[in-house]
Amino acid sequence: MKESIDRIFQELADLKAASQKEVEEARIRFLGKKGEVTALMEQFRTVAPELKREYGQKLNELKKAANARIEELKFAVEETADALAPKEDLSMPGDSFPLGSRHPVSIVRQQIVDIFRKFGYDVAEGPEIEDDYHVFEALNFPPNHPAREMQDTFFVSTGHLNPLLLRTHTSSVQVRTMEKQPLPIRVVCPGRVFRNEAISARAHCIFHQVEGLYIDKDVTFADLKQAILLFAREMFGPDTEIRMRPSYFPFTEPSAEVDVSCNICHGKGCNICKGTGWLEIMGCGMVDPNVLKASGIDPNEYSGFAFGMGVERIAMLKWQVNDLRHYFENDMRFLGEFATATEV
Ligand code: DAH
Repeated sequence: MKESIDRIFQELADLKAASQKEVEEARIRFLGKKGEVTALMEQFRTVAPELKREYGQKLNELKKAANARIEELKFAVEETADALAPKEDLSMPGDSFPLGSRHPVSIVRQQIVDIFRKFGYDVAEGPEIEDDYHVFEALNFPPNHPAREMQDTFFVSTGHLNPLLLRTHTSSVQVRTMEKQPLPIRVVCPGRVFRNEAISARAHCIFHQVEGLYIDKDVTFADLKQAILLFAREMFGPDTEIRMRPSYFPFTEPSAEVDVSCNICHGKGCNICKGTGWLEIMGCGMVDPNVLKASGIDPNEYSGFAFGMGVERIAMLKWQVNDLRHYFENDMRFLGEFATATEV
């Protein structure tokens, strides 16, 4: 038995393993149910009583040594496997993440601006917090015009002659442009506007407009009509027709409201155009002489036209979205639908 013990000690010292499988085989060979160390432990019963102490000790040491050696080999094999394993696979495709997309209102606003840029218009911007003068007074609103009243306008300050307020339309940028830019003027003014209105499918307290202004010598209503027709065809397609209905705005004279032929039923009548074949898209007119005068422009020398449209309204017509609130709720499912919308 002593020889066997010594031999096994030696074999354990010489033991090698190149894989986990070989480690396991070695474990079974020495420590398994029928393993060599296990067999010696069983033989221990037959050892003479006076030798039991000595062999008992030796066998315990052997078992311990066998366990330790197996653990040692196991660890060594793991280490080598780790060292050999490729650290990073640089050829692996990267994680993809969803691309964001532009907001439909931004897309349409940009389309409107780009169309007028092609016609030679510049872009002008003005403050969202404005004064009464630029939003109303310089635009020929009579002193007691209802648009100045609390139910339409969010006032920032009250109680003095020219209160601050959130602009209710981008026509205020017309005034600021006329004040500072040399003539002739040809601008579009995109921006956010604010009205004290209850939120519904058709109205919101914040929305977007694009204002247009063209002032030069001999600008006529025919020029206005042509500019709007060309815009409508770029925006809604080459077959689009326009019609103008007489209207009233304090800052234009004469004034008109513009309809485009329904791009869904092409004039036959459907529920989008409520059977009329026409869709209203903007207000417009010849700049009122009082407005020119207020900004120091001589109406005897210069004339001009102006127009103003709601960006959400154009977007609703373009994409047949019939609830304005979708544009403000930022529901990703709605916004995602415009991920592939192209710009002109
Ligand atoms: N400012 C008007 C509005 O907010 C829109 C408008 C109408 C603008 C006629 C114009 C215009 O420049 O000529 O309802």
